[in-house]
Parts: sequence; structure tokens; C-alpha cells
Amino acid sequence: MSRPAVLVARAVFPEVLERLSRHFEVEANPDDSAWSREELLARLAGKSGLFATGSVQVDAALLEACPQLRVVANMAVGYNNLDIPAFNARGVLATNTPEVLTETTADFGFGLMLAAARRMSEAERYLRAGEWKRWRYDTLTGTDVHGATLGILGMGRIGQAIARRGALGFGMKVIYHNRSRLPAEQEAPIGARWVDKATLLAEADHLVLVLPYSPESHHAIGAAELAAMKPTATLTNVARGGIVDDRALIAALREQRIAAAALDVYEGEPAFDPGFLELPNVVLTPHIASATVATRRAMAELAADNLIAALTGGTPPTPVNP
Ligand code: DGY
Repeated sequence: MSRPAVLVARAVFPEVLERLSRHFEVEANPDDSAWSREELLARLAGKSGLFATGSVQVDAALLEACPQLRVVANMAVGYNNLDIPAFNARGVLATNTPEVLTETTADFGFGLMLAAARRMSEAERYLRAGEWKRWRYDTLTGTDVHGATLGILGMGRIGQAIARRGALGFGMKVIYHNRSRLPAEQEAPIGARWVDKATLLAEADHLVLVLPYSPESHHAIGAAELAAMKPTATLTNVARGGIVDDRALIAALREQRIAAAALDVYEGEPAFDPGFLELPNVVLTPHIASATVATRRAMAELAADNLIAALTGGTPPTPVNP
């Protein structure tokens, strides 16, 4: 019996490619070329599976053009690059990589928040530029994190992991807003309090965005929301770029209507608004919250587990639309 053919659309660990090759005819993208949509479509012809990352868009038209495609294994917990209703309509399985990146992403999100509050990137630039001449009482003074109010928008696994770091490690008061309230036994150990969005914006000293991107969360933080925040507050985004209205954020940072921001994600990334580069009070990183060797490896292995199970009669461990 011929083996299923799969397409690996982005570069991945050689060991994972090797593992996939034991089960499938694999066409890979080892040099990580940026395939146009036409090229992706052409390469998908005859493939039963696609190993994707968040930068590979799979929509209804693509699924229609590839009727033999049975599964897309996303190497990411977020799956806003996949049109899930279209997957459902065509009976195509989508899988993602939850859990394995939670703590790593939370470490980074918390670190970014600290970096924004304590002006770490700005301080390093200052030192490297030779501007450090002497100690002064007001050089690069920031905002305290310990004991402050941590606001979490989107209290899923990563949001809860960030909240744990804040409450248990830094003595922070945790407030959060989520569509649904956590059960009391999950709130209690970290003293987390559900609040409405207006209260979250008004009370948070440090607001961290960890909600999934969807049409409902598009520009969830815009001019009105930024205006409702404390002028001393920081905003950190480790979710998806489209959740923040970049123009509004740039204006708020420029006019110091909030103290600082830290961004790991951007609408239209890897492109981002060059206006950010002119601002001292924003920390910018290139979508690396899950980027430790161990976690990226675990994500790749889990995506491979999903692909192999889906195409060899097994049970994919983390389906999105079972
Ligand atoms: C995810 O998993 O959704 C991340 O954004 C990719 O690291």
C-alpha cells in the first residue's frame, strides 16, 4: 500500500522530519523559503497532510483546491491561521500544540512585562550608547511590579501561568477578564478576581494580553481602552498582534498616556509599524515567547504525533475540531 504524502511547509528539526519520513512521503521546506500561496497550493497537490506553523494560512479556498487534504497539524497553540468553520464544512481535521508551551510562554510574557515596567531595553540602549556618566536618583526610574495589580485579559492556560508567577512570586494582586469565570478552586490559590473589562483596564498596573485572536478580539485594545488605563500602566502582548490597534498604541505611548508597552506579536508580522521604532518606551521582540529549544522541540514532536495519528488510524492527541 502506498504511503500518504505530506507537506512540511516550514523548516523544522531534522529529527522530526526524519520521524515523519518513516511514515510518509515527505516534501519539506528545509531552507524555509517563503512560499507564495500559489506555490503552497501547487505543492499541496496530492498531499493528505500539512505540517504548518502560524504563518501558513489555510482558508476555505485552499481547502477547496486541495480536496485530498485530510489534516493540518499546526505547530502552535494558536490556530487563527486556520479557518476552522471551513475545516468543519469539508471534514478536514485541524490540530494544535497546547500545554507544551504554556510555562515557557508564561516565563517570557512575565519577563517582557518586567522589562517594560523596569525599562530594561531602554537601559541597555542607554548603556551601549555610552550615555551612562554617573549615578542619578532619577535615571531610568520605572514602575514596581512586586505588590502591583496584574491584569490578565484572557485567562486560559498561559494567562493562569502568568498569574501564578505574579501572585506567588511577586506578591501581585491578580484581576482578570475572560468570557467565563474560572472555578473558585482555580481562582483561590492565586487570589484571582474576575472583573469586567472596564474594571480591568482601570485597575491594572500591568496589563497582559493572552487571549486568542478572533474577529471578536480584533483590536480589543484600541484608543478607548488605552485611554481607560492608568497613565503609569504597562501593556504586554504575547497573544496575537491583531488584538491591539497599533496606531492607537503608538499614539498612547508617544503621548505617555500609558507608561510603556512590550510586544512579541504584531498585526501583519513579520512586518510591523515602524512608528514603534521611534519610541523609547516599548520593548519589541520577534514572536519568540515559546522559543526555547526544549519547547520548540516539544511543539514539533506534538505536531508530528498529531499528523502521524491522523493519517495512520490513530487518535490525534490534540485535535482542534475532533
Ligand atoms: C503559538 O503557539 O500560538 C505561538 O504564538 C507560536 O509560538
